[in-house]
Amino acid sequence: MNILETVSLKPYNTFRVDAVSRYFTRIQKLEDVQNLARWYQHSKTPVLFVGGGSNLLFKEDYPGLVAHCELSGKTCLYADESARYIRAGAGENWHDFVRWTIDQGYAGLENLSLIPGTVGAAPVQNIGAYGVELVDYFYSLDAVDMQTGEVCQFDVQDCQFSYRDSFFKSIQPGRYFITAVTFRLPKQPEWKLDYAGLQGQLDDHQISARRVSDLVSDIRRSKLPDPAVMGNAGSFFKNPVLEEKVWLEIRARFPEVPGYPQKEEGLIKTSAAWLIDQCGLKGYRVGAAGVSEQHALVLVNHGGATGKHIWSIAETLIRAVEDRFSVTLEPEPRVIG
Ligand code: EPU
Repeated sequence: MNILETVSLKPYNTFRVDAVSRYFTRIQKLEDVQNLARWYQHSKTPVLFVGGGSNLLFKEDYPGLVAHCELSGKTCLYADESARYIRAGAGENWHDFVRWTIDQGYAGLENLSLIPGTVGAAPVQNIGAYGVELVDYFYSLDAVDMQTGEVCQFDVQDCQFSYRDSFFKSIQPGRYFITAVTFRLPKQPEWKLDYAGLQGQLDDHQISARRVSDLVSDIRRSKLPDPAVMGNAGSFFKNPVLEEKVWLEIRARFPEVPGYPQKEEGLIKTSAAWLIDQCGLKGYRVGAAGVSEQHALVLVNHGGATGKHIWSIAETLIRAVEDRFSVTLEPEPRVIG
């Protein structure tokens, strides 16, 4: 394991913020993870695992070690009567992996096309889009416990998935280095096309995983700024899940407020983008940091913004939404510093 010192994190976060890590290493094989665990136990220096860096905002330089996950490999482990079990290295690019499954003729992940990031980061925040969440096709994951160096396996219950959240994000952040993820893809496709934007776009005889993937990719490209062109981390806030009573109070004042009833009775999810948009803040900008003109939920770096600049925009949005709607927005990406 080769440890570098004072490394710019600009290439390792999709906001393209030029924070610096005190130490930096690349994880390319399982042995590197075990060495990393030993180094951590010995040095007690904080370690941050980074995949595509698409869900991180560095407000400050990082005082510990950034471990960049580059573990690769994708394979069909086995199949039973009803499903195939597909395993991928945590460092694989998420969208390339989704397209690979489609090329093999496996359906399931198509609605999650074009989400930036890596396979290993996907379960951490239970990525989701167009009516599908990672949990729907997740089978298990392999990880190394940094405190003991032990190799562990987590099934779906262990991961405690919820909306953009998991055991690895909010219960034991930084403890387990995810090395590989296994998905269970049913042989009989279960198309999910009832989400606004997908509905009615494909005739029944046209439906295939590739077509759905292409459609989702087109919609994402038209709605969301491309991180390769303008630094961003996708949705910056979670969509607030409100008690029905609170949501009804808002609706009494703002009849247009979106509301999506949740599985758990008495809870309504509303749209953070809508709340921000109503505050007139879509396209808001201070210097190089701002809110995307394309989508009110996406904060952007127009070039040269620091993490602090971006965070200051986030604070403006939180205050504005709180003042107008008494709703507190919660950041979706991990904010470091
Ligand atoms: N809207 C506005 N103004 C805008 C954009 C949207 O008012 O500028 C309103 C519209 O009423 C629209 C509603 O917000 O109908 C919802 O917008 P959209 O369909 O774009 O979805 P979202 O709720 O903003 C969520 C996910 C996205 C995911 C899409 C599609 C979260 C935090 N975000 O966004 O995930 O791609 O649904 O499923 O749940 C991400 O997590 O990074 C991400 C991009």
